[in-house]
Amino acid sequence: MPRRPRVVSDVPALRRAVATLRRDGRIALVPTMGALHDGHISLVRLARRRAKRVVVSIFVNPTQFAPNEDFSSYPRNLSKDLARLAEAGVDLVWAPDVKVMYPDGFATRITPEGPAKVGLEDSFRPHFFGGVATVVAKLLTQCTPDVAVFGEKDYQQLKVIARLATDLDLPVKIVGAPIVREANGLAMSSRNAYLSEAQRGVAATLCRVLKDCAHRIANKAHVARVLDEGSAEIESVGFTLDYLEARHVDSLAKVETLKDGPIRLLVAGRLGTTRLIDNVAV
Ligand code: PAJ
Repeated sequence: MPRRPRVVSDVPALRRAVATLRRDGRIALVPTMGALHDGHISLVRLARRRAKRVVVSIFVNPTQFAPNEDFSSYPRNLSKDLARLAEAGVDLVWAPDVKVMYPDGFATRITPEGPAKVGLEDSFRPHFFGGVATVVAKLLTQCTPDVAVFGEKDYQQLKVIARLATDLDLPVKIVGAPIVREANGLAMSSRNAYLSEAQRGVAATLCRVLKDCAHRIANKAHVARVLDEGSAEIESVGFTLDYLEARHVDSLAKVETLKDGPIRLLVAGRLGTTRLIDNVAV
């Protein structure tokens, strides 16, 4: 059986462990909220190609959940996660408690703008990117990695974090990793655990419609019409749609025609009480 990675849960122990790892070479960080699936593990694999040592953080970050969201019910299973990380060859796991990350008196919050204010996730989860930016800035300064890997699954988040690292002059390279999907196309997500078997089948509609829309837009169909028809199809299977949009891959600005691109299509919707997001390149 592979050796379990070392787990540290206070900042001084983390700093010592990171200093030891650094003697061996470059360090990559993969930030997660746990409940690990193959998508997370693909990030670890990419991290191992980019650095000698890999640190994974597991922290369900309360500041990125609104009071009405699923912070308390978010799936947590540290021992199963550690077994998966051992198999994946991770060197160190940073798993602080909420009180370690946000001690009494904590009073500083990062407010991202630019890609965090483009009218996608930010319109539906206004608190979200402030919480993500604050915790990721802390994770990056705590772990001081040379490289940090984030999934394209959370495409807007990836852009917000790349901007944050640039703006705060953090000496880290932010690397994006492709989306890992179930056999039926559904993007892997810790929140898929909330879905029934039947809902998982329905949820795959998101990816199918995205790919179909991307194909049509690439073949010069009218962007707004394609998105209207795609939206109707997603709603017809039972989703409450938050958005289906065509955006510029870098700026996330709205695009109206193929030549305003390159284009990324992004979608978010709710199936019952579960909110799902996905995106594809055109
Ligand atoms: P979490 O949802 O656990 O995701 C951790 C990382 O895994 C993110 O970079 C996310 O984009 C990536 N990921 C999730 N599902 C994926 C999939 N199917 N394919 C590829 N990558 C995938 O995102 C967060 O946690 C948090 O917001 C965090 C950045 C850790 C800050 O709290």
